Amino acid sequence: MQGTTTSQRALKQVIDSITLPKLTKKDEKELHRRLEQHFPALFERYYALYGSRYDFFLHLQKLVRVLCEGFAARNRKLKNKDSIRLETPNWFRSESVLGMAVYVDLFAGDLSKLKEKIPYFVQLGVNYVHLMPLYLAPEGNSDGGYAVSDYRKVDPKLGTEKQLKSLANAFNEAGIALVLDFVFNHTSDEHLWAQKARSGDEQYQEFYYFFDDKRDVDDYNATCREIFPSVRRGSFTWLEDVEKWVWTTFNSFQWDLNYSNPAVFNAITDEMLFLANLGCDGLRLDALAFIWKEKGTQCESLPKAHTLIQAFNLCLQITAPAVLFKSEAIVHPDEVAQYIDKEECQLSYNPLMMALMWESLATRETKLLTASLKKSFAISPDCSWVNYIRCHDDIGWTFDDAVANQVGIKGHDHRQFLNQFYTGQFAGSFANGVPFQANPETGDCRVCGSLASLCGLEAAMQSGHQQDIELAVKRVRLLNSVNLSIGGVPLIYQGDELGLFNDYQYLNDPHKMDDTRWVNRPAISEKDVAIAHDQSDPRGRIHQQLTDMIRLRQFLPVLGVAETEILETYRPHLFAYVRKSANGDRLLVIANFSEHRQTIPTSICDVLGSREVEDILNGERKPYHQNIMFDAYDIKWLKVIEH
Ligand code: GLC
Ligand code: GLC
Repeated sequence: MQGTTTSQRALKQVIDSITLPKLTKKDEKELHRRLEQHFPALFERYYALYGSRYDFFLHLQKLVRVLCEGFAARNRKLKNKDSIRLETPNWFRSESVLGMAVYVDLFAGDLSKLKEKIPYFVQLGVNYVHLMPLYLAPEGNSDGGYAVSDYRKVDPKLGTEKQLKSLANAFNEAGIALVLDFVFNHTSDEHLWAQKARSGDEQYQEFYYFFDDKRDVDDYNATCREIFPSVRRGSFTWLEDVEKWVWTTFNSFQWDLNYSNPAVFNAITDEMLFLANLGCDGLRLDALAFIWKEKGTQCESLPKAHTLIQAFNLCLQITAPAVLFKSEAIVHPDEVAQYIDKEECQLSYNPLMMALMWESLATRETKLLTASLKKSFAISPDCSWVNYIRCHDDIGWTFDDAVANQVGIKGHDHRQFLNQFYTGQFAGSFANGVPFQANPETGDCRVCGSLASLCGLEAAMQSGHQQDIELAVKRVRLLNSVNLSIGGVPLIYQGDELGLFNDYQYLNDPHKMDDTRWVNRPAISEKDVAIAHDQSDPRGRIHQQLTDMIRLRQFLPVLGVAETEILETYRPHLFAYVRKSANGDRLLVIANFSEHRQTIPTSICDVLGSREVEDILNGERKPYHQNIMFDAYDIKWLKVIEH
């Protein structure tokens, strides 16, 4: 209560001390309502972060001004969307929501051509499109756009702000949600703030982590993880001209922002609201685990990182509540879970399931997948997973070693095996993966590759072995099928719907050759699309099978707002789960992760309340007797037969 009164008083003081932008009576009322509702919580977070500073009030004042201006700049259409979304906050849990991650240039060429691709999305059933970073970035290597030089400027190679807004509008009309990147852990070294810092402006040097003393750098390095060890050891870069070290978790041209400085929080909030006001429905919080640093820690997922995200979220609640946060935490599963909360991120990538589907495919065993998801799959009903099979980044083996231990798997050795398996160094592997960021000191490594290539289609088509081709197509279908039915927003990476292979062209580009993630970012051509429509080509079958599954999913409310229970199958190669809606609707999914025939007693159907079931995925209605049979990589979606 005490806190509320303090924050109410603070709010009044702030409001009295600033000139509010011109608003209609109705908007003014709504802004005041939202401030009343959310300011106390925002104040509490902001105070926890910056309350000990002598200039706390000045920064608070500035923040409120930024919020009010952001609200005023939001157009009528978006304000209407805010009202609608406040009424339907869980829209993203619908069975018809399906996502795709798209590079504007690699997918379409530029923003105006991307607009022409709307029918492509609609036809496939995609209604959530994540556009990879499209902001002004350094020429040459910009970490695929994740080094932002100006959040308010569209990369001129891709188009203009006007075109982006027009695309957002067209998406909106077509019922497609737009997700943009919020790259807020760092800016590029060409950002105006960085340039000013570089030229000696102390105010802007405080926007980043600058150090004179090598001992500070060594102290932090002693406890931090190295993210890009093949680029540079440690997390810092020496700036010859300034004669200082700067914190760079990722590449040397990506300077980490210093959130212990409230001016940074305010400035980034301003940029965030600009992005929200372009008309997006979601912001992907890039590398959010790294935003708070403290000596003696790993500087990942610290408590204040959560305080910051909650504060950003409250800023959105006040100015642009239609916009959701999606967490990109590719960290230990227990840490991933900590960001998933209505107060932080309503959406989160599911890197655990992603990694363990590949693990099961390699080992043909599902015990780690089952045990891990039993522990970590359930999340708040206000939130949703964004499930994916692979993305534009690498596949890292971020499972929990303690869970692995319980099922007799040694984490370290197992990761070595998985890396060898997927990079083709393991005899008998079907995969064409490429290693990423091998760390000679720790032995760590990650893997890159397209869905089809990692599933063995690239190798099989090269060798021409019909049986291998069949198995590869079945693996792709298996993973797509789990992704579409386990619960959450399935996210397809562009080109995987067409069965695209790895693209080795990056090796010819000096700005890309050292970053193997480019192998799994193929550009999409008309020819690729044509091949995917040819049923005599295995890629055509991949496309058709995926399309069929998407169609089926759209009409299954049990894949929308419902719960998932991961089941113990007591069969080493089978993975199973049941979806349960509040109204009693149920769907049982059983998947065979091996190329050998498997069976399971029909008693597993008791979770459905009856053993009289049909497999709606494969259109099988014949009764199962004692056992349900599975051929190589078969997956079944089982429902009780309605009489
Ligand atoms: C995220 C992006 C990745 C990028 C990194 C640094 O993890 O997905 O591509 O390299 O952040 O911004
Ligand atoms: C690390 C980071 C993740 C990023 C990735 C890029 O795994 O945790 O945020 O996507 O590196 O390769």
